Amino acid sequence: MSATSEPTASPQRVRAVVAIDGPAGVGKSSAAQRLAQRLGYVLVDTGALYRGVALSAREAGVSWDDGAALGRLAAGLDFTFTMDATGVPRLHVAGIDRESDIRNPAIARGASDVSRHPEVRAALLGLQRKLGEGGGVVLEGRDIGTVVFPDAELKVFLTASAEERARRRVGDMKQRGQEVDFQEILRSIEARDAQDSSRAVAPLKPAEDAVLLETSCMNLEQVVAHLVELVRDATSTHE
Ligand code: DC
Repeated sequence: MSATSEPTASPQRVRAVVAIDGPAGVGKSSAAQRLAQRLGYVLVDTGALYRGVALSAREAGVSWDDGAALGRLAAGLDFTFTMDATGVPRLHVAGIDRESDIRNPAIARGASDVSRHPEVRAALLGLQRKLGEGGGVVLEGRDIGTVVFPDAELKVFLTASAEERARRRVGDMKQRGQEVDFQEILRSIEARDAQDSSRAVAPLKPAEDAVLLETSCMNLEQVVAHLVELVRDATSTHE
């Protein structure tokens, strides 16, 4: 994987690149999944890559604080995605499905830790651009509109208060039968917000030309309907 300083997307892209960024727990994944299904686009969950680096580092005994070693590790990892029957991407590392190993609070925290390091971000940049370069793709993450695809046809930044995001996360986890403490979830969301927004490289922030969508008073279907409209508007002026 090699990192380049300029995006590789060509101006002749026929189908759009849609960048969906926003903080932890805002509902990016659910909204991006439904949007991609509706549009017949591929979905790329870039957070899964950072989670994959955190998991692989833990297994290789590499500290989440060691940027140089993490960068070397990340550059050598073989990441691929498959889609499950409902169009949800599943991360594979070296051909092995690791999806169930990356979806837990420890690896979420590790992903936030490893994503602070410029070496890790550089190692993942080329892959993210390659996954999106053909267009017809929804990429969700933290820096898609600012760094990975600054020329995306549509950039959306989703927001919701930390309390609302914690409520949503608790609801999701309870539905899956997991016992959770609201205060603990709120604290972990606030900690990740602080770390993701304050890091020196590619901090979590909206691109200047991103559409800001405050979702605290919207349900998932309303968010998706709004996104579909935004894509229609953006592509009708580009195609
Ligand atoms: O979206 P997520 O919760 O799976 O992301 C996990 C962590 O990865 C998040 O706390 C910050 C980092 N991340 C990032 O820095 N840049 C991205 N484009 C996506 C995720």
